[in-house]
Amino acid sequence: MSTKVFYITGTSSGFGRDLVLDLNQRGHKVIATARSLHKIEDLAKLDNVKIQQLDVTDKPAILQQKIDEAITFFGKIDALVNNAGYSQTGCFEELTDAEIRKVYDTNVFGTVNLTKAILPHFRSTETESTICTITSLGGTVSFPVCSAYTSSKFALEGFFEALDGELKMSQQPVKVLIVAPGAFRTEFMGNIQKSKEDIDAYKPVKDYIDTSFKQFSVTGGVPKIGAKLMADAMLKEGSAEGKEIPLRLPIGSDAAKYMLDKFKRESEVCEAWKPYAAEADAQ
Ligand SMILES: NC(=O)c1ccc[n+]([C@@H]2O[C@H](COP(=O)([O-])OP(=O)(O)OC[C@H]3O[C@@H](n4cnc5c(N)ncnc54)[C@H](OP(=O)(O)O)[C@@H]3O)[C@@H](O)[C@H]2O)c1
Repeated sequence: MSTKVFYITGTSSGFGRDLVLDLNQRGHKVIATARSLHKIEDLAKLDNVKIQQLDVTDKPAILQQKIDEAITFFGKIDALVNNAGYSQTGCFEELTDAEIRKVYDTNVFGTVNLTKAILPHFRSTETESTICTITSLGGTVSFPVCSAYTSSKFALEGFFEALDGELKMSQQPVKVLIVAPGAFRTEFMGNIQKSKEDIDAYKPVKDYIDTSFKQFSVTGGVPKIGAKLMADAMLKEGSAEGKEIPLRLPIGSDAAKYMLDKFKRESEVCEAWKPYAAEADAQ
């Protein structure tokens, strides 16, 4: 096994932290990053783990400095894991411009800017590098009260699907992987930001969603297992050994089911409306 160097965002809790531990146990080197270094000081005590302060919403020039510094820790980076993210809830009409922009700053612009900062390094290496971006089942299917969050994940899906095409067409040795988890029992639910505005007319929607969210603390997947499956996919080991890894991978049977249901529904609609669509073709 060749030792790889992973750079992971948002490792203070959840998938990020579990990925650091999983990859470290497999013998790989990890640069674990977090907004507050004190939250990940324990990780620095592990052999082959370095820590770095990183807020993905920092300006692109700062993100570039962080990546340049991180490359010096182990002499290279083989894989970037875009994990940092959070959810902003609230009905469409309640969400303020500031609330929507803030979640996009982290989930979308932070992820895109950091990825841009590392691409020249990946292009300069001879071995294949990996960019793994954690979106969500909500990157394919949107839900009431989750428009700000799910639309940010839809945006990531669009960015990374296009990047994958660009890297393949230009034969750059970088594998793009989009990981779409369903509900998992990380700190995610506790870190949700709720909209400040509250419009009474939407109360039934919010009551329904509050009840569903509460169930996730029981039905949600185990984060360590989710992290293991992500590591398996990046390394083509364990459950992913010998398999061709697709661009987009659901993690959790809820993710697979919701995504499949939507693809089926949409493909039936496209099939039924194909003649209508074709009426617009050039004559
Ligand atoms: N758990 C789920 O059910 C679920 C489902 C689908 C997708 N996801 C996705 O999985 C990823 C990881 O979330 P999680 O479930 O592990 O939740 P989590 O335990 O809340 O972890 C989120 C991590 O992101 C970090 N973060 C937030 N804003 C940041 C910023 N501006 N810069 C750097 N780090 C930042 C947090 O750090 P701080 O300690 O500094 O806040 C934390 O370490 C997220 O992208 C999330 O959208 C989760």
